Amino acid sequence: MDEIVIGNDRFEVFLEEKTIQKRIKELAAELHKEYRDRTPIFVGILNGAFPFLSDLVKNYDGLCEIEFMKLSSYGDAKISSGNVTIVKELEIDVTGEHLIIVEDIVDTGLSVKYIEGLLEKHKPASVCVVSLLLKPDSLKYNVKIDYIGFLIPSKFVIGYGLDYEQKYRNLRSIYALK
Ligand code: IMP
Repeated sequence: MDEIVIGNDRFEVFLEEKTIQKRIKELAAELHKEYRDRTPIFVGILNGAFPFLSDLVKNYDGLCEIEFMKLSSYGDAKISSGNVTIVKELEIDVTGEHLIIVEDIVDTGLSVKYIEGLLEKHKPASVCVVSLLLKPDSLKYNVKIDYIGFLIPSKFVIGYGLDYEQKYRNLRSIYALK
């Protein structure tokens, strides 16, 4: 599929499946180098991070655990509402644990800032953030993203976990609004 048409919006292929998969292998190897002597907990942020988390841990060649958190989403809009609330908290005690937060995309940075604030209370031994995508020109909050798949322009993107009105998360490639 080269193009997706949704109403008056046209999306074109932006990152192909094989490009995404190649980069994820590299990220998994980098993470393993850092965490090989520890058993990190990958914390996927639902809903968008599920395919990335899945491919990342399948390529992570070491002991690890997997947990999920869920934040309220943008709603059905293409721009950030500026509000974020927790919908699903971590259900395990992460005191003294090494956490790897897994995000699909960092836009303004609000979600990551919010998650870091929540996790701080649980006193983990360490927290790092890995995001498949980062829109540097959209950042509004001071967040450090430790591992980044791709830096992308501030375009709306869908596919590979990223939604448009909750749909299109199942696309294998990532498409950008023309
Ligand atoms: P932030 O809190 O502004 O950094 O936004 C992060 C969240 O907004 C991501 O986890 C996505 O759910 C959503 N988001 C941001 N940009 C896009 C996009 O281009 N397409 C789909 N969802 C997006």
